[in-house]
Amino acid sequence: PETGCLSIVLLGASGDLAKKKTFPALYNLFRQGFLPPDEVHIFGYARSKISDEELRNRIRGYLSNEKSASSENLENLRNFLQLVKYVSGSYDSEEGFQLLDKEISKQELSKNTVEGSSRRLFYLALPPSVYPSVCKMIRHFCTNKSDLGGWTRIVVEKPFGKDLGSAEQLSAQIGELFEEPQIFRIDHYLGKELVQNMLVLRFANRFFLPLWNRDNIDNIQIVFREDFGTEGRGGYFDEYGIVRDIIQNHLLQILCLLAMEKPVSLKPEHIRDEKVKVLQSVLPIKDEDVVLGQYEGYRDDPTVPDNSNTPTFATVILRINNERWEGVPFILKAGKALDSRKADIRVQFKDVPGDIFRCKKQGRNEFVIRLQPSEAMYMKLTVKTPGLEMQTIQSELDLSYGQRYQGVTIPEAYERLILDIIRGDQQHFVRRDELKVAWEIFTPLLHRIDGGEMKPVPYKPGSRGPAAADELLEKAGYVQTHGY
Ligand code: BG6
Repeated sequence: PETGCLSIVLLGASGDLAKKKTFPALYNLFRQGFLPPDEVHIFGYARSKISDEELRNRIRGYLSNEKSASSENLENLRNFLQLVKYVSGSYDSEEGFQLLDKEISKQELSKNTVEGSSRRLFYLALPPSVYPSVCKMIRHFCTNKSDLGGWTRIVVEKPFGKDLGSAEQLSAQIGELFEEPQIFRIDHYLGKELVQNMLVLRFANRFFLPLWNRDNIDNIQIVFREDFGTEGRGGYFDEYGIVRDIIQNHLLQILCLLAMEKPVSLKPEHIRDEKVKVLQSVLPIKDEDVVLGQYEGYRDDPTVPDNSNTPTFATVILRINNERWEGVPFILKAGKALDSRKADIRVQFKDVPGDIFRCKKQGRNEFVIRLQPSEAMYMKLTVKTPGLEMQTIQSELDLSYGQRYQGVTIPEAYERLILDIIRGDQQHFVRRDELKVAWEIFTPLLHRIDGGEMKPVPYKPGSRGPAAADELLEKAGYVQTHGY
């Protein structure tokens, strides 16, 4: 029984991720009663020497808008901030982690927690270069006894390595210190509402079962666009680029859910087994299936080298070599500084054979899942134009969440995933072998980019990206839908 005190430690507490995503997610969970104050403590750990109060002041602006908050919210906020303490230390200092352990134990004792029943969650909102030393310190100085239902869990963020070799090395280092069920590799796209809906959609609906294959589907696009550049993150971004930042993880995870076979059950291991299998069926990426871009002005960022070869845009076609998907291109596209902020999935069906209505030109059936903004799913289909004449038109069956589920608040991805970690559910986290295959798929391409053998073409900020990407899309078989 998990009755012991729960300590959540945020390492890298003053960084961007902690401030903008992790603390707000914890606050939302607190407000909804998932982090009861008589059981929970939150610790920030970072290098800067600040007080508890200073940390609270740094994060409070990200938690709620105090000016417009109601008095009930203000009380919530005060109570939450009271739970937050700060410990300062470096990421490789024994003293720092000994002190952290002392502070956690003190709180556990104050809550009369029996040894062996306490729960400790360490969230590494840090660059991967310090993962090994931080994990070693946690393992040696901060791990609790777990014989009475207690546990120690580690949460790591992407980028998890830079290529297959470095990721495997990192996995091995952490794997020596913690068991797989203790390690939670976050990909926050797996916490988005419509990504979580994907298996339900595919496997609980008769509509989709017989159609979801190469006989009926012509091509699938998974698209991520942002209408801002790398503002303030140029240094980080330039080292990684759009393929490592978005495609190898967020978009590839979506591909897994779209393309995998039906799992034996909903057990996390069964689901992840199927994800690994489909990744193993992905063929090596060909140069002609790739378009890279870099927006004009990217290199003006003082933290980006003048001769940077890093792509801020990429379209990559993946091809899956199995019975279900042979011949169906999976087009993964991601870009910064484009014309809009949007993430969606487009499943385009083949033409109807024997076109007696001569409606082919109007476009094909398409099933669209919009992950953000404004979650929605819609099916583009051909109907008779209402009226006396027998004419056809493209219309849609539309399930827009804002309309259909009015008043329902869709939880933030991080909120949901942190709750999963506390509950020990690894379904929406990336397993070690899954990560390895994901790197295997992209490493040869990444090495060609890093080695300067493939160069990004320039594109205008605020545009659709390089024209070559649209040409590639057309070559892959995508037909633009018109006429509705
Ligand atoms: C992060 C990337 O993983 O995802 C960022 O590092 C990107 O570059 C972000 O902006 C997008 O997340 P979301 O949830 O806003 O689509």
